[in-house]
Amino acid sequence: MIKGRAWRADEFGDPMEVLQLCGDEWENPDEGTLLVKVEACGIGLPDLFMTQGRYPIVASPPVHPGQEVSGRVISVPPGSAFRVGERVMGITIYGSGWWRGGLADYAFVQERKCLRIPAEMSDEAAAGFVIGFRTAHAALVERVPVTAGERVLILGGAGSSGAAAIQLSKALGAEVIAVAGSDEKLRFCETIGADHVVSYGEEGWPDAVAGATRGRGVDVIFDPVGGATALAALATLATRGRIALVGFASGEWLKLDAQDMVLRNYSAVGVFSGGFSANEDARAFADLAEMVERGAINTPLGSVFEFDQTREAICSLSRPGPGKTVVRMSSEGK
Ligand SMILES: NC(=O)c1ccc[n+]([C@@H]2O[C@H](COP(=O)([O-])OP(=O)(O)OC[C@H]3O[C@@H](n4cnc5c(N)ncnc54)[C@H](OP(=O)(O)O)[C@@H]3O)[C@@H](O)[C@H]2O)c1
Repeated sequence: MIKGRAWRADEFGDPMEVLQLCGDEWENPDEGTLLVKVEACGIGLPDLFMTQGRYPIVASPPVHPGQEVSGRVISVPPGSAFRVGERVMGITIYGSGWWRGGLADYAFVQERKCLRIPAEMSDEAAAGFVIGFRTAHAALVERVPVTAGERVLILGGAGSSGAAAIQLSKALGAEVIAVAGSDEKLRFCETIGADHVVSYGEEGWPDAVAGATRGRGVDVIFDPVGGATALAALATLATRGRIALVGFASGEWLKLDAQDMVLRNYSAVGVFSGGFSANEDARAFADLAEMVERGAINTPLGSVFEFDQTREAICSLSRPGPGKTVVRMSSEGK
Protein backbone atom coordinates (compact mmCIF):
# COMPACT_ATOMS: atom_id res chain seq x y z
CA MET A 1 0.00 0.00 0.00
CA ILE A 2 1.36 3.41 -0.96
CA LYS A 3 0.00 6.80 0.13
CA GLY A 4 -0.26 10.01 -1.89
CA ARG A 5 -2.51 12.82 -3.07
CA ALA A 6 -5.35 12.69 -5.62
CA TRP A 7 -7.83 15.22 -7.00
CA ARG A 8 -11.34 13.97 -6.23
CA ALA A 9 -14.91 15.28 -6.33
CA ASP A 10 -17.27 13.82 -3.73
CA GLU A 11 -20.24 15.42 -5.46
CA PHE A 12 -21.01 16.48 -9.03
CA GLY A 13 -20.78 20.20 -9.84
CA ASP A 14 -18.55 23.10 -10.89
CA PRO A 15 -14.93 21.79 -10.88
CA MET A 16 -13.76 24.99 -9.12
CA GLU A 17 -16.00 24.06 -6.18
CA VAL A 18 -16.20 20.28 -6.03
CA LEU A 19 -12.66 19.15 -6.87
CA GLN A 20 -10.53 18.71 -3.74
CA LEU A 21 -6.95 17.51 -3.25
CA CYS A 22 -7.33 14.50 -0.92
CA GLY A 23 -5.17 11.82 0.63
CA ASP A 24 -5.43 8.44 -1.11
CA GLU A 25 -3.88 4.95 -1.05
CA TRP A 26 -2.88 2.59 -3.86
CA GLU A 27 -2.58 -1.18 -3.38
CA ASN A 28 -0.46 -3.52 -5.54
CA PRO A 29 -1.89 -3.70 -9.06
CA ASP A 30 -4.13 -6.54 -10.24
CA GLU A 31 -3.42 -8.61 -13.38
CA GLY A 32 -3.52 -6.41 -16.50
CA THR A 33 -2.77 -3.23 -14.54
CA LEU A 34 0.40 -1.32 -13.67
CA LEU A 35 0.94 1.11 -10.78
CA VAL A 36 2.71 4.25 -12.02
CA LYS A 37 4.25 7.26 -10.23
CA VAL A 38 2.65 10.05 -12.25
CA GLU A 39 4.76 12.72 -13.96
CA ALA A 40 1.98 14.31 -16.03
CA CYS A 41 -1.67 13.68 -16.90
CA GLY A 42 -3.51 14.29 -20.19
CA ILE A 43 -7.08 15.55 -19.85
CA GLY A 44 -10.05 16.11 -22.18
CA LEU A 45 -13.76 16.90 -22.28
CA PRO A 46 -14.76 13.61 -20.56
CA ASP A 47 -12.91 14.82 -17.42
CA LEU A 48 -15.01 17.99 -17.33
CA PHE A 49 -18.23 16.09 -18.03
CA MET A 50 -17.64 13.41 -15.39
CA THR A 51 -16.91 16.07 -12.75
CA GLN A 52 -20.11 17.91 -13.67
CA GLY A 53 -22.16 14.67 -13.64
CA ARG A 54 -22.77 14.70 -17.41
CA TYR A 55 -20.75 11.58 -18.35
CA PRO A 56 -22.94 8.48 -18.53
CA ILE A 57 -20.40 5.87 -17.36
CA VAL A 58 -19.73 7.79 -14.13
CA ALA A 59 -23.22 7.53 -12.69
CA SER A 60 -22.44 8.67 -9.15
CA PRO A 61 -19.62 10.38 -7.20
CA PRO A 62 -16.85 10.19 -6.11
CA VAL A 63 -15.17 11.26 -9.34
CA HIS A 64 -11.42 10.75 -9.93
CA PRO A 65 -10.68 12.49 -13.28
CA GLY A 66 -7.55 12.06 -15.41
CA GLN A 67 -7.76 9.89 -18.53
CA GLU A 68 -4.12 9.21 -19.40
CA VAL A 69 -0.71 9.63 -17.75
CA SER A 70 3.03 9.45 -18.16
CA GLY A 71 5.27 8.26 -15.34
CA ARG A 72 7.50 5.50 -13.97
CA VAL A 73 6.27 2.01 -13.19
CA ILE A 74 6.55 1.34 -9.46
CA SER A 75 4.70 -1.98 -9.18
CA VAL A 76 3.65 -4.73 -11.62
CA PRO A 77 1.58 -7.91 -11.16
CA PRO A 78 3.21 -11.33 -11.75
CA GLY A 79 3.66 -12.06 -15.46
CA SER A 80 3.62 -8.41 -16.56
CA ALA A 81 5.51 -7.47 -19.75
CA PHE A 82 6.68 -4.28 -17.98
CA ARG A 83 9.40 -3.80 -15.34
CA VAL A 84 9.59 -1.54 -12.30
CA GLY A 85 11.41 1.69 -13.21
CA GLU A 86 10.37 1.85 -16.88
CA ARG A 87 9.00 5.17 -18.24
CA VAL A 88 5.53 4.53 -19.62
CA MET A 89 2.50 6.36 -21.02
CA GLY A 90 -0.97 4.91 -20.91
CA ILE A 91 -4.68 5.11 -20.20
CA THR A 92 -5.89 4.97 -16.61
CA ILE A 93 -8.44 2.42 -15.41
CA TYR A 94 -12.17 2.18 -15.57
CA GLY A 95 -14.05 0.32 -12.87
CA SER A 96 -17.69 0.88 -12.09
CA GLY A 97 -17.48 4.18 -13.85
CA TRP A 98 -14.15 5.91 -14.35
CA TRP A 99 -12.29 5.68 -11.05
CA ARG A 100 -8.75 6.27 -9.79
CA GLY A 101 -7.82 8.66 -12.61
CA GLY A 102 -4.43 10.20 -13.30
CA LEU A 103 -4.67 13.57 -11.52
CA ALA A 104 -2.79 12.11 -8.56
CA ASP A 105 0.66 11.17 -7.29
CA TYR A 106 0.07 7.57 -8.45
CA ALA A 107 -2.25 5.98 -11.00
CA PHE A 108 -3.25 2.53 -12.20
CA VAL A 109 -2.71 2.14 -15.95
CA GLN A 110 -4.21 -0.55 -18.20
CA GLU A 111 -1.27 -2.68 -19.36
CA ARG A 112 -2.75 -3.26 -22.84
CA LYS A 113 -3.29 0.51 -23.24
CA CYS A 114 0.28 1.35 -22.23
CA LEU A 115 3.61 1.72 -24.03
CA ARG A 116 7.16 2.58 -23.15
CA ILE A 117 8.04 6.27 -23.67
CA PRO A 118 10.54 6.79 -26.50
CA ALA A 119 13.78 8.25 -25.07
CA GLU A 120 13.47 11.77 -26.48
CA MET A 121 9.81 12.31 -25.53
CA SER A 122 9.00 14.67 -22.62
CA ASP A 123 6.73 13.64 -19.74
CA GLU A 124 4.19 16.28 -20.83
CA ALA A 125 4.10 15.06 -24.44
CA ALA A 126 3.87 11.44 -23.30
CA ALA A 127 0.91 12.22 -21.02
CA GLY A 128 -1.14 13.44 -23.99
CA PHE A 129 -0.09 10.90 -26.60
CA VAL A 130 -2.02 7.67 -26.25
CA ILE A 131 -5.72 8.54 -26.63
CA GLY A 132 -5.33 11.00 -29.52
CA PHE A 133 -2.90 8.89 -31.53
CA ARG A 134 -4.62 5.55 -30.82
CA THR A 135 -7.81 7.16 -32.18
CA ALA A 136 -6.10 8.63 -35.25
CA HIS A 137 -4.32 5.31 -35.94
CA ALA A 138 -7.56 3.35 -35.59
CA ALA A 139 -9.19 5.62 -38.17
CA LEU A 140 -6.44 6.34 -40.67
CA VAL A 141 -4.42 3.10 -40.56
CA GLU A 142 -6.75 0.33 -39.40
CA ARG A 143 -10.21 1.35 -40.62
CA VAL A 144 -10.03 3.73 -43.62
CA PRO A 145 -6.97 3.22 -44.43
CA VAL A 146 -5.09 6.22 -45.95
CA THR A 147 -2.40 5.69 -48.60
CA ALA A 148 0.47 8.00 -49.59
CA GLY A 149 -0.55 10.79 -51.96
CA GLU A 150 -4.20 10.86 -50.88
CA ARG A 151 -5.87 14.13 -49.85
CA VAL A 152 -7.21 14.04 -46.27
CA LEU A 153 -9.62 16.59 -44.79
CA ILE A 154 -9.43 16.82 -40.99
CA LEU A 155 -12.30 18.41 -39.08
CA GLY A 156 -11.62 19.70 -35.55
CA GLY A 157 -7.99 20.00 -36.67
CA ALA A 158 -6.79 21.78 -33.51
CA GLY A 159 -8.58 19.36 -31.17
CA SER A 160 -6.84 16.48 -29.53
CA SER A 161 -7.81 13.71 -31.98
CA GLY A 162 -7.84 16.04 -35.02
CA ALA A 163 -4.34 17.35 -34.30
CA ALA A 164 -3.02 13.79 -33.92
CA ALA A 165 -4.75 12.94 -37.22
CA ILE A 166 -2.97 15.83 -38.98
CA GLN A 167 0.43 14.53 -37.88
CA LEU A 168 -0.37 10.89 -38.62
CA SER A 169 -1.75 11.73 -42.09
CA LYS A 170 1.47 13.59 -42.91
CA ALA A 171 3.51 10.64 -41.60
CA LEU A 172 1.50 8.40 -43.99
CA GLY A 173 2.42 10.65 -46.93
CA ALA A 174 -0.97 12.34 -47.38
CA GLU A 175 -1.77 15.94 -48.33
CA VAL A 176 -3.66 17.48 -45.40
CA ILE A 177 -6.38 20.10 -45.32
CA ALA A 178 -7.30 21.06 -41.73
CA VAL A 179 -10.52 22.78 -40.64
CA ALA A 180 -10.76 24.85 -37.45
CA GLY A 181 -12.70 27.79 -36.06
CA SER A 182 -10.23 30.58 -35.17
CA ASP A 183 -7.06 32.14 -36.55
CA GLU A 184 -5.10 30.85 -33.56
CA LYS A 185 -6.30 27.29 -34.22
CA LEU A 186 -5.65 27.56 -37.96
CA ARG A 187 -2.05 28.69 -37.30
CA PHE A 188 -1.65 25.81 -34.84
CA CYS A 189 -2.77 23.32 -37.52
CA GLU A 190 -0.12 24.77 -39.87
CA THR A 191 2.62 24.50 -37.25
CA ILE A 192 1.89 20.79 -36.76
CA GLY A 193 2.00 20.03 -40.49
CA ALA A 194 -1.29 20.87 -42.27
CA ASP A 195 -0.66 21.78 -45.94
CA HIS A 196 -3.82 23.92 -46.16
CA VAL A 197 -6.10 25.38 -43.48
CA VAL A 198 -9.73 26.48 -43.81
CA SER A 199 -11.98 28.23 -41.27
CA TYR A 200 -15.43 26.67 -40.98
CA GLY A 201 -16.63 30.13 -39.85
CA GLU A 202 -16.23 31.47 -43.39
CA GLU A 203 -19.28 31.42 -45.68
CA GLY A 204 -18.87 28.75 -48.40
CA TRP A 205 -15.82 27.17 -46.68
CA PRO A 206 -16.24 23.81 -48.53
CA ASP A 207 -15.41 25.72 -51.76
CA ALA A 208 -12.09 26.71 -50.20
CA VAL A 209 -11.44 23.01 -49.45
CA ALA A 210 -12.32 22.10 -53.05
CA GLY A 211 -9.96 24.88 -54.24
CA ALA A 212 -7.12 23.46 -52.13
CA THR A 213 -7.59 20.12 -53.94
CA ARG A 214 -7.50 21.83 -57.37
CA GLY A 215 -11.14 20.76 -57.80
CA ARG A 216 -10.47 17.03 -57.39
CA GLY A 217 -12.05 16.70 -53.93
CA VAL A 218 -10.71 14.91 -50.87
CA ASP A 219 -10.20 11.15 -50.66
CA VAL A 220 -10.74 10.89 -46.90
CA ILE A 221 -12.53 12.92 -44.22
CA PHE A 222 -11.55 12.44 -40.54
CA ASP A 223 -14.64 13.53 -38.59
CA PRO A 224 -14.53 13.97 -34.80
CA VAL A 225 -17.05 16.86 -35.10
CA GLY A 226 -20.28 15.65 -36.79
CA GLY A 227 -23.38 17.83 -37.23
CA ALA A 228 -23.65 20.61 -39.79
CA THR A 229 -19.86 20.92 -40.22
CA ALA A 230 -19.47 17.28 -41.25
CA LEU A 231 -22.53 17.47 -43.50
CA ALA A 232 -21.06 20.48 -45.32
CA ALA A 233 -17.69 18.70 -45.57
CA LEU A 234 -19.29 15.75 -47.41
CA ALA A 235 -19.69 17.98 -50.47
CA THR A 236 -15.88 17.97 -50.81
CA LEU A 237 -15.55 14.16 -50.91
CA ALA A 238 -14.31 12.73 -54.23
CA THR A 239 -15.93 9.68 -55.82
CA ARG A 240 -14.85 6.47 -54.00
CA GLY A 241 -13.97 8.65 -50.97
CA ARG A 242 -14.29 7.52 -47.35
CA ILE A 243 -15.42 9.40 -44.26
CA ALA A 244 -14.19 8.15 -40.86
CA LEU A 245 -16.89 8.74 -38.23
CA VAL A 246 -14.99 9.39 -35.00
CA GLY A 247 -17.02 11.70 -32.76
CA PHE A 248 -19.54 14.47 -32.31
CA ALA A 249 -17.72 17.46 -30.78
CA SER A 250 -20.45 19.69 -32.30
CA GLY A 251 -22.99 17.88 -30.08
CA GLU A 252 -24.51 15.87 -32.94
CA TRP A 253 -23.39 12.90 -35.02
CA LEU A 254 -23.31 13.26 -38.81
CA LYS A 255 -26.60 12.09 -40.35
CA LEU A 256 -25.79 10.07 -43.47
CA ASP A 257 -27.96 9.97 -46.60
CA ALA A 258 -27.84 6.46 -48.13
CA GLN A 259 -28.98 7.70 -51.53
CA ASP A 260 -26.20 10.29 -51.66
CA MET A 261 -23.65 7.58 -50.70
CA VAL A 262 -24.90 5.35 -53.51
CA LEU A 263 -25.08 8.00 -56.22
CA ARG A 264 -21.65 9.48 -55.38
CA ASN A 265 -19.96 6.13 -54.61
CA TYR A 266 -18.53 6.96 -51.17
CA SER A 267 -18.27 5.00 -47.90
CA ALA A 268 -18.65 5.81 -44.21
CA VAL A 269 -16.45 3.95 -41.72
CA GLY A 270 -17.22 3.80 -37.99
CA VAL A 271 -14.18 4.08 -35.70
CA PHE A 272 -13.95 3.17 -32.00
CA SER A 273 -10.39 3.07 -30.68
CA GLY A 274 -11.47 1.07 -27.62
CA GLY A 275 -12.87 -1.73 -29.78
CA PHE A 276 -9.68 -3.51 -30.86
CA SER A 277 -8.10 -6.74 -29.57
CA ALA A 278 -5.01 -6.75 -27.34
CA ASN A 279 -2.89 -7.91 -30.30
CA GLU A 280 -4.26 -5.13 -32.52
CA ASP A 281 -3.54 -2.56 -29.79
CA ALA A 282 0.01 -3.89 -29.39
CA ARG A 283 0.63 -3.65 -33.17
CA ALA A 284 -0.80 -0.11 -33.27
CA PHE A 285 1.36 1.04 -30.34
CA ALA A 286 4.50 -0.50 -31.89
CA ASP A 287 3.72 1.32 -35.15
CA LEU A 288 3.15 4.64 -33.33
CA ALA A 289 6.29 4.27 -31.19
CA GLU A 290 8.36 3.68 -34.33
CA MET A 291 6.93 6.89 -35.86
CA VAL A 292 7.80 8.87 -32.70
CA GLU A 293 11.32 7.46 -32.71
CA ARG A 294 11.97 8.56 -36.29
CA GLY A 295 10.51 12.01 -35.51
CA ALA A 296 7.44 11.67 -37.76
CA ILE A 297 4.88 12.36 -35.00
CA ASN A 298 4.78 13.84 -31.50
CA THR A 299 2.02 15.02 -29.20
CA PRO A 300 0.46 18.30 -30.40
CA LEU A 301 0.74 19.88 -26.94
CA GLY A 302 -1.55 22.75 -26.01
CA SER A 303 -1.89 24.28 -22.52
CA VAL A 304 0.23 22.79 -19.75
CA PHE A 305 -1.03 23.40 -16.19
CA GLU A 306 0.69 22.73 -12.85
CA PHE A 307 -0.80 20.11 -10.49
CA ASP A 308 -2.08 22.78 -8.09
CA GLN A 309 -3.97 24.39 -11.02
CA THR A 310 -5.96 21.22 -11.72
CA ARG A 311 -9.34 22.88 -11.09
CA GLU A 312 -8.52 25.63 -13.62
CA ALA A 313 -7.24 23.00 -16.07
CA ILE A 314 -10.51 21.04 -15.95
CA CYS A 315 -12.59 24.24 -16.29
CA SER A 316 -10.53 25.29 -19.34
CA LEU A 317 -11.88 22.25 -21.21
CA SER A 318 -15.24 23.96 -21.72
CA ARG A 319 -13.44 26.30 -24.19
CA PRO A 320 -10.16 24.53 -24.96
CA GLY A 321 -7.39 26.26 -26.85
CA PRO A 322 -5.49 24.44 -29.60
CA GLY A 323 -3.78 21.12 -28.87
CA LYS A 324 -3.79 18.62 -26.03
CA THR A 325 -4.25 19.91 -22.46
CA VAL A 326 -1.88 18.44 -19.88
CA VAL A 327 -1.41 18.81 -16.11
CA ARG A 328 2.11 18.15 -14.81
CA MET A 329 3.22 17.35 -11.30
CA SER A 330 4.73 20.43 -9.69
CA SER A 331 8.23 20.07 -8.26
CA GLU A 332 6.86 19.69 -4.73
CA GLY A 333 4.91 16.63 -5.91
CA LYS A 334 8.00 14.83 -7.24
N1 LIG B 1 -14.23 7.08 -31.71
C1 LIG B 1 -13.24 7.12 -30.83
O1 LIG B 1 -12.54 6.14 -30.59
C2 LIG B 1 -12.97 8.44 -30.13
C3 LIG B 1 -11.78 8.62 -29.38
C4 LIG B 1 -11.54 9.89 -28.81
C5 LIG B 1 -12.51 10.91 -28.95
N2 LIG B 1 -13.66 10.64 -29.63
C6 LIG B 1 -14.70 11.65 -29.82
O2 LIG B 1 -14.23 12.60 -30.77
C7 LIG B 1 -14.79 13.88 -30.49
C8 LIG B 1 -13.67 14.90 -30.39
O3 LIG B 1 -12.77 14.51 -29.35
P1 LIG B 1 -11.44 15.36 -29.13
O4 LIG B 1 -10.76 14.75 -27.95
O5 LIG B 1 -10.70 15.52 -30.40
O6 LIG B 1 -12.10 16.76 -28.70
P2 LIG B 1 -11.46 18.20 -28.54
O7 LIG B 1 -10.01 18.13 -28.22
O8 LIG B 1 -12.38 18.95 -27.63
O9 LIG B 1 -11.57 18.80 -30.03
C9 LIG B 1 -12.79 18.95 -30.68
C10 LIG B 1 -12.62 20.02 -31.75
O10 LIG B 1 -13.87 20.12 -32.43
C11 LIG B 1 -14.02 21.45 -32.86
N3 LIG B 1 -15.47 21.76 -32.94
C12 LIG B 1 -16.37 21.78 -31.94
N4 LIG B 1 -17.59 22.09 -32.42
C13 LIG B 1 -17.44 22.27 -33.75
C14 LIG B 1 -18.34 22.59 -34.81
N5 LIG B 1 -19.64 22.80 -34.58
N6 LIG B 1 -17.84 22.66 -36.08
C15 LIG B 1 -16.52 22.46 -36.30
N7 LIG B 1 -15.62 22.16 -35.35
C16 LIG B 1 -16.08 22.06 -34.08
C17 LIG B 1 -13.30 22.32 -31.86
O11 LIG B 1 -12.56 23.31 -32.53
P3 LIG B 1 -13.07 24.79 -32.88
O12 LIG B 1 -12.84 25.63 -31.67
O13 LIG B 1 -12.23 25.13 -34.01
O14 LIG B 1 -14.56 24.69 -33.18
C18 LIG B 1 -12.29 21.38 -31.19
O15 LIG B 1 -10.95 21.71 -31.52
C19 LIG B 1 -15.63 13.70 -29.21
O16 LIG B 1 -16.97 13.49 -29.60
C20 LIG B 1 -15.05 12.44 -28.58
O17 LIG B 1 -15.99 11.76 -27.78
C21 LIG B 1 -13.90 9.44 -30.23
